[in-house]
Order: sequence, then structure tokens, then C-alpha cells
Amino acid sequence: MSGEHLVEVRNLKQYFNVRTGFFRTTPLKAVDDVSFNIGSGETLGLVGESGCGKTTVGRSILRLYEPTGGEVYFEGKLVTSDNITELRKSMQMVFQDPYSSLNPRMTVSDIIGEPLDIHRLYTTKKERKEKVLGLMELVGLNAEHATRYAHEFSGGQRQRIGIARALAVNPKFIVCDEPVSALDVSIQAQIINMFEDLQEKLRVTYLFIAHDLLVVRHISKRIAVMYLGKVVEIANSDELNDNPQHPYTLSLLSSVPIPDPKIARSRKRIVLEGDVPSPLRMPSGCPFRTRCSYATEQCAAECPALTERGAGHFVACWNK
Ligand SMILES: Nc1ncnc2c1ncn2[C@@H]1O[C@H](COP(=O)(O)OP(=O)(O)OP(=O)(O)O)[C@@H](O)[C@H]1O
Ligand SMILES: [Mg+2]
Repeated sequence: MSGEHLVEVRNLKQYFNVRTGFFRTTPLKAVDDVSFNIGSGETLGLVGESGCGKTTVGRSILRLYEPTGGEVYFEGKLVTSDNITELRKSMQMVFQDPYSSLNPRMTVSDIIGEPLDIHRLYTTKKERKEKVLGLMELVGLNAEHATRYAHEFSGGQRQRIGIARALAVNPKFIVCDEPVSALDVSIQAQIINMFEDLQEKLRVTYLFIAHDLLVVRHISKRIAVMYLGKVVEIANSDELNDNPQHPYTLSLLSSVPIPDPKIARSRKRIVLEGDVPSPLRMPSGCPFRTRCSYATEQCAAECPALTERGAGHFVACWNK
């Protein structure tokens, strides 16, 4: 463990025991041997189809799930169930759905102030109020709204409340789990810009999860692509866009719309055949091989490891 990264994830595994028969449970490998680093002040994008394990990676890093295997280091320190309470102040999460993640019966002031209460981050009521108002201002919320209830707000405003709540404890790292997926396209850009401004102001580090490569590409310095519980490619955002290596990344990129119709027409579209296999019945070898047009016998026999194929460009594929 080098200590130069804020977050290091090593061989993280999260298996859920799912009931598959009357007396039988089968391990569902939601996250299977995932490793990556995130530098201080950096944004790592995490992208992949629904169900590939993105949220589970985020939740396992923050120990909202006890991982089945592997380690997470935060500022060089191994995260354990013993020190997580203390580390929780430094590591926060913004959730996918702003409609269900905020208590509709609590006022904005109470939602944002609750983490301050839990961690006892003020001495007087006046100080608490000032802190809450400061956080509201930081995320562009009107101070007059402090006594209103969460259900009175639109999706974008609710997401601002969720972000202010995450920022209340002054975290160094935030897992942003699809924070704009539930919002109108017109609001998405505003919220993404706000994440960027906050990063500049507060030097906070993000793991930014999305299924939309366009969203992730905009905000991330590096991107990790996930497929069926595994990271199949990690690279710098520009490198991933200009020089994608994994067949799955190629298919994701080919579905991103291009505004110029001439370029769009000349580009080959790769449409994936078949469905994503059930994580309860994983294919042998490479998890992507059942939908990959380059698959060979070797792909069925053995799972390729994530290997460096260029400076900081890692790919898990036998044919690359
Ligand atoms: N608590 C749980 N118990 C059992 N299975 C789970 C649990 N949480 C997630 N899973 C399963 O683990 C796999 C990964 O789920 P996860 O929610 O991490 O995917 P995701 O990439 O975040 O998807 P989405 O884009 O839809 O949010 C899925 O097959 C899901 O059904
Ligand atoms: Mg998710």
C-alpha cells in the first residue's frame, strides 16, 4: 500500500447469498475482485449497465455492506468495522434517488443539520443554524427554504439538499451514486457543474457513478468501466474515449450520441447481442465472452486479469 492515494480499493468482493430454492442459497457475485485507486482531489468515474455492481462498490467502500473479501485503504489506513464510525465523517455518499433518500417529514434545516447533530459539530444552537445556512448557500439553496419540507422541492433542489447534507461533516471523499440520473436533462448540467465547483472550492474527491458515459466523461479525470461485477477497463477519460480497448467499452462508446451527423454516420455502431447474463449464473472465464464477437476458447477457460497496456491504461481482455 503506497499511501499516495486518498482511496485504494484492493480485490474488493461483495457476494450476496440469494435464496434459489427451498433449502438452497447461491452466492450472487455483485462485486468480484475489484481494484482501483483514487488520488486526492480527483474524480474517478464508474460506469456500466444497470446491475453490474456500481452501487455495491460504493456501499462496500463506505462499509454500508461488510465486504466478503478484499481491503479498502483511506489515506493509507485500512478501513475496518472498528474505525469506520470515525472515518464516516471523511467519507460520505450522495444517493441516486433524491425522492426516496430524503425524509419527507423533515425540514431542510433538520436534514442538513442531522449529521452535525450526530457528530456533535457545534456548541450552540446559533452555530448550528449558521452552519446549516452556510451549507445551503454553498449548494445554491435559498436560506428562506430552511423551514420547508423536502417533499415541497423539485428533484434538482432535493439533490442539492442531499449534497449539502453530505457536505455537512466536511468530508474528503464522496461517493456520488448516479446523482443526476433521476433528474431532467436540463437540470443535470446544473447539478454536475455544482459538483465541479464544489470540488474546486473544497478539494473533495469523488467516486462518480453513472450508467451514462457522457455524464461520467464530463466530470471525471479517469474512468473505470464495469461489467458483471468486474472492472474491465480503467484509463484517463480522454484516452478511454480516443483509444478504447475492451470490446465492452467500445460498445458503450458506440451508443453515445455524436452531435455531428457526418461523423455519426461514418462511425460503426456496435450493438451488443443477447442479454446480460444473470450474476447467479456467471459464464466461465471472461464474464463478457457470451456477448463478445472476439471471444475464443481461452476466454471461456480463464478470466483475464486487469493488465496495464499503456501508461495508466488497464484492460482485462485476452485479445488486446
Ligand atoms: N442487498 C442485496 N442483496 C442481494 N442482491 C443484491 C443486493 N444489492 C444488490 N444486489 C444485486 O447485485 C447486483 C449489483 O447491484 P447494484 O445495485 O450494485 O448494481 P448497479 O450497477 O448499481 O445497478 P443500477 O445501475 O441499476 O443502479 C445486482 O444483480 C443486484 O440485483
Ligand atoms: Mg446503482
